Amino acid sequence: MKNTIIANWKMSASLEGVHAYVSTFKSLKIPKDRDIIFCPPTPYLTFMDGALSGMPLYIGAQDCAASQKISNTGEASADMLKDVGCSHVIVGHSEVRQRTNPTQKDISAKLQNAIDSGLHPIFCVGESLEIYKINKTKDHLEEQLKALDALAKEKAPLKNILIAYEPIWAIGTGIIPTMTEIEDICAFIAEHISKTYNIAIPVLYGGSVKGKNAGEILSLPSVNGVLVGGASLDPKEFHKICMAD
Ligand code: PGA
Repeated sequence: MKNTIIANWKMSASLEGVHAYVSTFKSLKIPKDRDIIFCPPTPYLTFMDGALSGMPLYIGAQDCAASQKISNTGEASADMLKDVGCSHVIVGHSEVRQRTNPTQKDISAKLQNAIDSGLHPIFCVGESLEIYKINKTKDHLEEQLKALDALAKEKAPLKNILIAYEPIWAIGTGIIPTMTEIEDICAFIAEHISKTYNIAIPVLYGGSVKGKNAGEILSLPSVNGVLVGGASLDPKEFHKICMAD
């Protein structure tokens, strides 16, 4: 499967900064064998769509609404995100989960809305440090992955999903699991999906990915890409990750 490299800018950036970023990134060589997806804050999606047009680069949003009700003040629907040029949307990022406490039904609804709108959801799963320490990571992931059950009735929608394994304790901390642990968990997720739904879905790793560790992570057999937060804010560092092998 083609390696997918995702930049999650979270709430960083300014319009001026985004202009400068794009002009630096565009001056660098873009690898053809990778899908590169930028997830800027929602207000900059339209600008990014215009700035990257004609280039082999994709745009994603950082979340979408669980309900299509128009009375959802402050939210953006998957249809709207598609409208402004998104091909992808992150669903279930731990920072969003911690802030909004979504139910499993909400996560399923976001995934379904994204698929119905023609987007590829990047479905984030991952354990807290407490769960990791008591060795319950796999049980926890199995629970989180049950959000796919509601979609599994038809196999077709599932093939549009990417899974991102992001241990919460590795996000923004500079600490990452060992390569053996990353491989073990990503293989577990791929096997679980294949056994439960009889389909192959790409599994990405996220959490403190940098230019210096990206090559090693991307070379793991069960890792199909990376989701990058902090290190994606510098265009040269992110480019290094895009080129890593
Ligand atoms: P990080 O963030 O690369 O800064 O650890 C990853 C993420 O939150 O998706």
